Amino acid sequence: MTQGAFAGRVVLITGASSGIGRAAARAYAAQGAHILLAARREEPLREAALEVEAFGVRALPVRCDITQPEDVERLMREAQAAFGGLDVLINNAGVGLFGPVEAISEEQLRQVFEVNFFALVRVTRAALPLLRQRPGGQIVNVSSVLGHRGLPLLGGYGAAKAAVNALTESLRAELAAERISVLLVSPGFTETEFRQTRLHAEGWRQSPPPLKQMSADEVAKAMVRASRRHHRDTVLTLPGRLMVLANRLAPSLFDRVARRMVTRMAKRPEP
Ligand SMILES: NC(=O)c1ccc[n+]([C@@H]2O[C@H](COP(=O)([O-])OP(=O)(O)OC[C@H]3O[C@@H](n4cnc5c(N)ncnc54)[C@H](OP(=O)(O)O)[C@@H]3O)[C@@H](O)[C@H]2O)c1
Repeated sequence: MTQGAFAGRVVLITGASSGIGRAAARAYAAQGAHILLAARREEPLREAALEVEAFGVRALPVRCDITQPEDVERLMREAQAAFGGLDVLINNAGVGLFGPVEAISEEQLRQVFEVNFFALVRVTRAALPLLRQRPGGQIVNVSSVLGHRGLPLLGGYGAAKAAVNALTESLRAELAAERISVLLVSPGFTETEFRQTRLHAEGWRQSPPPLKQMSADEVAKAMVRASRRHHRDTVLTLPGRLMVLANRLAPSLFDRVARRMVTRMAKRPEP
C-alpha cells in the first residue's frame, strides 16, 4: 500500500489538465492519495492521469466543464461510483481577465465570475454529500493574492477572487461543526498557461510579469503542506505576502504604488 500523509484518501481537483491543478494532482498522489482529475480538455487530462498513476495510486480523469450543471452532477456520480465518496475537494479551475474596469466587457466579467465563483459554488455544493460520507473532509479554494488586494487592470479577476475569499470564510464557519475544514490558498505570479488563456479587454495586453514567478510544482507543494496542517489561509510568494501586509498597514501608500503599476504592467491599445 502507498505511504504518505494522504494515503488512501480521495482528492478531487478541478482544473487538473494544466498548471497548478495538474501539479497538485502529482503532489497529492506523491502523498498516497487517489486523484479525480476534472477539466474540459481530455487529452491533457489523460496525460495528467498517467503522471498520477506513476505514483502507484488510482487516477480517474473526468471531462467536466464546471460551468455546466449536468457535467458537475456526472462528475460526482463518477466519484461516488469509483471511490464511494471524497476526502478533499480542490476548487482550482479558473480563468483570468486583464484590462481596465472601463474597458472589460460585461460578458467577459460575467464569464470570469461564472468560472471562478459560480462554478466553484456549484462544485462545492455538489461535493458536500460525498465529503460527508467520510470523516475529516476538506475543501481547498484556490484564490489569488489579487483576492486580498485589488490591482489596476486586474479588477474583474480580483473581484471574482475576493468573492471566493468571502465565501470561503462563510463556508468555513458553516461546516466547522461537521469537521469539514475549508482552506484558502492564494498564489501570486505562477508560471502556467494562465496568461495565455485569460481574457483581455479589447486591445489590452500585459507586459511580461515584472516579478519572479513561482513554479506550479512549488505552489502545489505549498498547497499540500497547508492541506496537511489545515492551514486556513495561505498567501504565496514573498511579494504577494508583502503586498497583503503593506495594504493592511499603509493602504494609501499602497494605492500610490498600485497607480505606478498601471503604466508598467500594460501594453495599451494603439490610439
Ligand atoms: N498562474 C498564476 O499566476 C495564478 C496566480 C494566482 C491564482 N491563480 C489561480 O490558480 C488556479 C489555476 O490556474 P493556473 O495558473 O494553473 O492556470 P491554467 O494552467 O490556465 O489552469 C487553469 C485550469 O482551469 C481549467 N478550467 C478553466 N475553465 C474551466 C471550466 N469551465 N471547467 C473546468 N475546468 C476549467 C483549465 O482546464 P481546461 O481548459 O482543460 O478546462 C485548466 O486546467 C486558477 O484558479 C487561477 O485563478 C493563478
